[in-house]
Amino acid sequence: MYQIVTKRRLNDIVTLMEVAAPAVAAKAQPGQFIMFRLDELGERVPLTISGYDRDKGTIEIIFQHMGRSTKMLAQMEEGDYISDFVGPLGKPSNFEGMKKVCVVGGGVGCAIGYPAAKALHDMGVEVDMIAGFKNKDIVILEDEMRAACDNLYLTTDDGSYGEKGFVTDKLKSLLESGKGYDTVFAIGPVIMMKFVSAVTKPFGVHTVVSLNPIMIDGTGMCGGCRVTVGGETKFACVDGPEFDGHKVDFDELMKRNAFYKEQEQKAGEHICRLTGGVRVG
Ligand code: NAD
Ligand code: FES
Repeated sequence: MYQIVTKRRLNDIVTLMEVAAPAVAAKAQPGQFIMFRLDELGERVPLTISGYDRDKGTIEIIFQHMGRSTKMLAQMEEGDYISDFVGPLGKPSNFEGMKKVCVVGGGVGCAIGYPAAKALHDMGVEVDMIAGFKNKDIVILEDEMRAACDNLYLTTDDGSYGEKGFVTDKLKSLLESGKGYDTVFAIGPVIMMKFVSAVTKPFGVHTVVSLNPIMIDGTGMCGGCRVTVGGETKFACVDGPEFDGHKVDFDELMKRNAFYKEQEQKAGEHICRLTGGVRVG
């Protein structure tokens, strides 16, 4: 059992938790993920590790209250226990040879972009970060992101904070202005990662995306997380989750991610007697 040590609401739909998991914290590296299960009947949910403290033996996760399990997790409090918390899974980020990087985070994806930016910045890499949100009310981690890079560019879709527009608008203007990034890291909605990759392609900038397909076992056995990269089938849980954005078949990934939408919605609406009748939808 894994105890929730800290819980912090970042906005109405995003929560940060620090979970005591010493064996995971001992080996965790940027880019890797964990899978949690709330109880023995629960689904297995993958979440990218947003931070870790080897001395305290804790792992930090930041999650959007989206599906049934994350909504239930968001209702748990400090001191409560999670049944399973497995990791670290997946390959760590490969920062080798990077000198000037732009990290692009979309919405809650900024929670994963931020530690990547921080790790690169701590290594002496020049880092710009573009963080995009729908509106001012859901901006998260602004101070943390600002401290983790050389320049933070904040955008909102409706212009209520920072620059109006999508992250891709800002990225395109920075690339056109001559910012010579050797790498762009993009983490956020699949559609955003698709268009970030389309923007960087004509500039020939190496682009890394962190994929979030449906996962079941997280160990390369079930094939649930398969993605097509460069015409080859890859399993995001063991071959990724980070891949070359110019080679990913994003349209296929979006189709696969939408496959269980109806069931996910029904599960979210279900009132479960096992959770004391808590409605999680
Ligand atoms: P969102 O829909 O609010 O979008 C965030 C930003 O992405 C927008 O503000 C915009 O700047 C950009 N964007 C969105 N659509 C775009 C488009 N068509 N073209 C260009 N830019 C676009 O994001 P959200 O609701 O916070 O969702 C975050 C997503 O990130 C979730 O789908 C979640 O699964 C994913 N995520 C992925 C990882 C990972 O490890 N890959 C980690 C955390 C979250
Ligand atoms: Fe089963 Fe990746 S989640 S193979």
